[in-house]
Amino acid sequence: MIAVEGVVKRFGAHTVLGGVSLTVAPGEVVTILGSSGSGKSTLIRCINGLETLDGGRVTVDGLDVADPRQLAQARRLSATVFQLFNLYPHMTVLRNITLAPELVLRRPKNEVEAQARALLASVGLAGKADSYPGQLSGGQRQRVGICRALAMNPRYLLLDEVTSALDPEMTAEVLAILARLATQGTTMLFVTHEVEFARRISTRIVFLDQGRLIVDLPTDQFFAADGGLAHPRIRQFLSKMAPSSTVAGAPVSEILA
Ligand SMILES: Nc1ncnc2c1ncn2[C@@H]1O[C@H](COP(=O)(O)OP(=O)(O)OP(=O)(O)O)[C@@H](O)[C@H]1O
Ligand SMILES: [Mg+2]
Repeated sequence: MIAVEGVVKRFGAHTVLGGVSLTVAPGEVVTILGSSGSGKSTLIRCINGLETLDGGRVTVDGLDVADPRQLAQARRLSATVFQLFNLYPHMTVLRNITLAPELVLRRPKNEVEAQARALLASVGLAGKADSYPGQLSGGQRQRVGICRALAMNPRYLLLDEVTSALDPEMTAEVLAILARLATQGTTMLFVTHEVEFARRISTRIVFLDQGRLIVDLPTDQFFAADGGLAHPRIRQFLSKMAPSSTVAGAPVSEILA
């Protein structure tokens, strides 16, 4: 499992994560909610070893990401899809997906290409293998990003606001793929502003507030009046959702009433 224990992260005098603890066990879909600037992306970056820690510990299946040798192994267990599509613009879609499995995992080219084509077909992009990222829509690019992460056969998938740069239609097509992965038992740590989607797919929801994890609850309890909804900061967060938003079929204003 992914184990985050008392993680502290500072940027200069600014403490961005003030002792965060969190676990993600195999088969779980854990969603991190929180306002902009609360530290969600920083937490993801601490888990995949893109940030050094100022305190605490992160282990992935027991491998300590602060140890450079263990980090290399830990990185093979988890794959990250980022907020902005970071595909290589000069490589085809297929090559974007096959590059790391071939170079990092040293898997045979034929096998990796076959897997990449199957993944592309599974996200409705069978015909785009030879296209370049610049020829794709944002939603298509993000679906390629998901294929690229899955081609590493990760045990854990980390997703940081993968739909925030997409329009509603493209968001829906990417969320449909994530929902399918969740039902197939893919372990995910998921940062999103899509509250209703998080409610549908998550086993647990955690809430980060100014670098502190103030709530960590099973999804039903997160949305219960005497659970997550009893926290003023969570109520404030949900009250900023669009007035037309619904949670479990009820308007947000109603669930906060
Ligand atoms: N490299 C950095 N140097 C200095 N400050 C940083 C750096 N990265 C993040 N921060 C600060 O850390 C805080 C948390 O940032 P983070 O990106 O983790 O927030 P977030 O919860 O992901 O926000 P959003 O919802 O807008 O993506 C912010 O105040 C941000 O300005
Ligand atoms: Mg972020």
